[in-house]
Amino acid sequence: MSAPTSSTPVPAAAPATSGHRRILVTSALPYANGQIHIGHMVEYIQTDIWVRSLRMHGHEVYYVGADDTHGTPIMLRAEQEGITPKQLIERVGKEHKRDFDSFGISFDNYYSTDAEENRVLCESIYGSLKAAGLIEARDIEQAYDPVKEMFLPDRFIKGECPKCGAKDQYGDNCEVCGSTYQPLDLINPYSVVSGATPVRKTSTHYFFRLSDPRCEDFLRGWVSGLAQPEATNKMREWLGDKGDAKLADWDISRDSPYFGFEIPGAPGKYFYVWVDAPVGYYASFKNLADARGLDFEEWIRPGSKTEQYHFIGKDILYFHTLFWPAMLEFSGHRTPTNVFAHGFLTVDGAKMSKSRGTFITAKSVIDTGINPEWLRYYYAAKLNHTMEDIDLNLEDFQARVNSDLVGKYVNIASRAAGFLIKRFEGRVQDSAMNHPLLLQLRAAIAQIAALYESREYGRALRTTMDLADTVNAFVDTAKPWDQAKDETNAAALHETCSVSLEAFRLLSLALKPVLPLLAESVEGFLGIAPLVWADVSAPLSSSQPINAYKHLMTRVDPKQIEALVAANRESVAPGQTAAPAAAASASTSKKAAKAKEPEAEGVISIDDFAKIDLRIAKIVNCTAVEGSDKLLQLTLDVGEEKTRNVFSGIKSAYQPQDLIGKFTVMVANLAPRKMKFGLSEGMVLAASSEDEKAEPGLYILEPHSGAKPGMRVK
Ligand code: 2FM
Ligand code: ZN
Repeated sequence: MSAPTSSTPVPAAAPATSGHRRILVTSALPYANGQIHIGHMVEYIQTDIWVRSLRMHGHEVYYVGADDTHGTPIMLRAEQEGITPKQLIERVGKEHKRDFDSFGISFDNYYSTDAEENRVLCESIYGSLKAAGLIEARDIEQAYDPVKEMFLPDRFIKGECPKCGAKDQYGDNCEVCGSTYQPLDLINPYSVVSGATPVRKTSTHYFFRLSDPRCEDFLRGWVSGLAQPEATNKMREWLGDKGDAKLADWDISRDSPYFGFEIPGAPGKYFYVWVDAPVGYYASFKNLADARGLDFEEWIRPGSKTEQYHFIGKDILYFHTLFWPAMLEFSGHRTPTNVFAHGFLTVDGAKMSKSRGTFITAKSVIDTGINPEWLRYYYAAKLNHTMEDIDLNLEDFQARVNSDLVGKYVNIASRAAGFLIKRFEGRVQDSAMNHPLLLQLRAAIAQIAALYESREYGRALRTTMDLADTVNAFVDTAKPWDQAKDETNAAALHETCSVSLEAFRLLSLALKPVLPLLAESVEGFLGIAPLVWADVSAPLSSSQPINAYKHLMTRVDPKQIEALVAANRESVAPGQTAAPAAAASASTSKKAAKAKEPEAEGVISIDDFAKIDLRIAKIVNCTAVEGSDKLLQLTLDVGEEKTRNVFSGIKSAYQPQDLIGKFTVMVANLAPRKMKFGLSEGMVLAASSEDEKAEPGLYILEPHSGAKPGMRVK
């Protein structure tokens, strides 16, 4: 066995785990207009493991969450569904809670930002900031939809990119050339909500004066306490050099119509959703504190001895390391002890994609019979204290879960339990509890607990699996199945099984933050109380016989993974559903009304056409397929992380080497097809002659020069 497998020191992340600590922990609040997917789950699982490990030290830990319910997309989504925003957020809130429960996310309270506690807290924080001279009213000009009579957030305006002319680009940046601009710089802009041409309109907005030197000074000090060097560097970049005045004031108001809290003393003006979202952490905790009789004020006052941590994705660092601490500081509250940001999830090396079936919802995981603890284990094995992205490789997922959890860990119990029950009434040999192997395991447990605390879960699990290897090697050497053949070896057999089972108990302790449900089954099987870290030195005892062994975990069946991908595969073009609750008001949209008209026979609607995801592809390699006189094998770069493999029946028209380096067009969302020679992941487009005998009769499409791999063809 080896202790932490890498020589990297465990980074200090929090006060040492000693004494009784009082800790408030949050994960980012998911928007109440979409389903929870496995990308979200990275964060909730990361936080939950941390929280469970801290609870196992006996600390007083509260883990709170809530749905992030306000803002324009939610308001329009409800309208699109023909329900009120309150009805929408109530329904989605229940779905989110169901998904978190099914993944074992142990919130002490799961609430909503649309709650009275939140309104009161927002008003009070705003009032204090105003009294401190940090709120300023200013007239600004913005894009306005004259048909829908509302101001339009950037993502609700589309048009042609002012730089490259690409059509259908959002109001903030161009997905084709990457340039950023103002919404009204777009050529031929239109409102995504009504299709109308936006106009400029002036309105009064309220700003949090982040540019005030008090804020800058405070944030410069606060940044030095951040646990992640990447976060500190980002903050320093945002803050610039002293006196640079790089921080811009933050627009915290939105005009009616808006689903949110009205700003006191400013009729028709609402708090921007990003104001009441983080305050929602406190609202959820206040709601819990009231229910449990905790002194909420004591937790949020400056100088409080309690700790406060926020787990977030790296994309929302700005809000949590600038706005939120500044809001707290200048409204007379304590500031967060730390903010922990994680990276994004990719699946099989690429962004989650609906057409590939890798935009996987939490519900579909449960519905296809996948054990959520498999995913908890896999994520944990990949997580560390940094903001690096993590990849869920579906093949590796099966292999790792089957090999580590079933092959190495569960196997230990199944090998030992049978003999112990049949031959020794299920009672361990007490003298075996100090076997050197067990001393080695016990010594490693404190280190594993420290690795959890510093969010080095991958290292914690590698250490645990190294220990499991050592235990299996011990069993292989002792050969209990041989010992059992000879009655005179009874004491040796008893020792082998007892050591194995106690080792299994210790490994279960090490895995408990990650696999809480499995740990519960183990506790039932061993007849022991819920395991906590201190139980490292409370070995199994002959006074408490174990119960009959029941299978603790099944292997991942590849068919389950296939079913999961199939359940999530949509034949819609990527991006089609990615618009923010797009074209929300179907009844007022001219485009939507048109699409409802029946089409003539043989004619497809624009929506039907949009289902085909055509992309520019670069042929990075091309070879003849041995054994086929029709096919060439193409390796295509379509702007994704991984290339695609495509078999195409164009051998009669092209020499493979003539195609290498050329560009063409491919159907990127065609369901992958298993062929005799391998998997074909799409189709290239070619024109063919009516006359089959014409030479060559086949011409693959080639775009004009300048087209880049991955560009959408429409
Ligand atoms: O980015 C998001 O999904 C936001 N709903 C997160 C809010 S976190 C907190 F500030 F409430
Ligand atoms: Zn552009």
